Amino acid sequence: MTSQLLSVEDLTVYYKTRLGDVRAVEDMSFSLANSEILGLVGESGSGKSTLGLALIRLVPPPGRIISGSILLKNKNILNYYEEEMRNLRGRQVSFVFQDPMMSLNPVKKVGDHFIELIRTHNPAVTKDEARARAEKVLSSVGITSERIDDYPHQLSGGMRQRVMIALAITLSPSLIIADEPTTALDVIVQAKILGLLQSLRDRFKMSLILITHDLSIVLERCDRVVVMYAGQLVESATAVDLHDHPFHPYTQKLLTTIPNIELTDQRLEAIAGNPPDMLHPPNGCRFWPRCTQVMNKCREKSVPLFETGKNHVTRCFLYGG
Ligand SMILES: Nc1ncnc2c1ncn2[C@@H]1O[C@H](COP(=O)(O)OP(=O)(O)O)[C@@H](O)[C@H]1O
Ligand SMILES: [Mg+2]
Repeated sequence: MTSQLLSVEDLTVYYKTRLGDVRAVEDMSFSLANSEILGLVGESGSGKSTLGLALIRLVPPPGRIISGSILLKNKNILNYYEEEMRNLRGRQVSFVFQDPMMSLNPVKKVGDHFIELIRTHNPAVTKDEARARAEKVLSSVGITSERIDDYPHQLSGGMRQRVMIALAITLSPSLIIADEPTTALDVIVQAKILGLLQSLRDRFKMSLILITHDLSIVLERCDRVVVMYAGQLVESATAVDLHDHPFHPYTQKLLTTIPNIELTDQRLEAIAGNPPDMLHPPNGCRFWPRCTQVMNKCREKSVPLFETGKNHVTRCFLYGG
């Protein structure tokens, strides 16, 4: 039996707006083993960031966790006091955002970000000790010590993202959540950063949740995949299994949007239609308005998850019900 680091059960997150509830994440359940890399993939607006932020209880208002549980090492962090959460963030779970400039203070030197983080969590550490630790962590992500007194704007985009990753691993958390960490970077830098994230698992036995809209990244870099559509998990499997045996019509469509080097004369398709308005998602299956295999019950009944293989689930009436 693999040991579970994280277990999310029936998590529901709404944004409470004047116009009504935006149902950003609904009944989300998945788990993550130690040293596992999980890809969370879906189109823009499918609820990926909301879910990621919910996992560290940082969904901005008017967002609110409505129900469910988030078990980290068997403890439900939804019962934690805010002070316990502050202690947990960075130390047990770290978050890497798409835009490093959101998290880096432009008027603070690179090294000072580390010193502050280390000393906030452990005031007994001296500045010199913290600085030495910063140099070590930075070198582990490929940044040399002479950069420690640079300001964020003096670094390239790729280097800034490396600094963010270094900050994320400084306190040796068990889990890193990276939300579109390479979307703003060019392809070569992107590959390097993704390789760096993967290496953290091997070197430090960390688990990683990689959030992206890019299915090809997930298939290449992740052990397991959760496909989200309109706030719901629609399919989950190992990356290999999802690639070879996609069951949900949405996943099948997503796969056709990926360029495939093995096929020379292929047509890349865009998925027709748009994702639903999350204030008023359709009844039944949320994908039915775009589904080419829609049946009557898809429009009427909400769809449970069906087992479509070993550790493979699919939210679609083609496979049961
Ligand atoms: N502050 C907010 N207020 C209201 N709705 C929001 C807010 N932030 C996000 N949403 C909505 O929640 C849904 C999920 O958004 P998000 O989690 O950002 O998706 P993704 O990261 O997959 O693009 C979208 O419909 C989005 O419009
Ligand atoms: Mg997002």
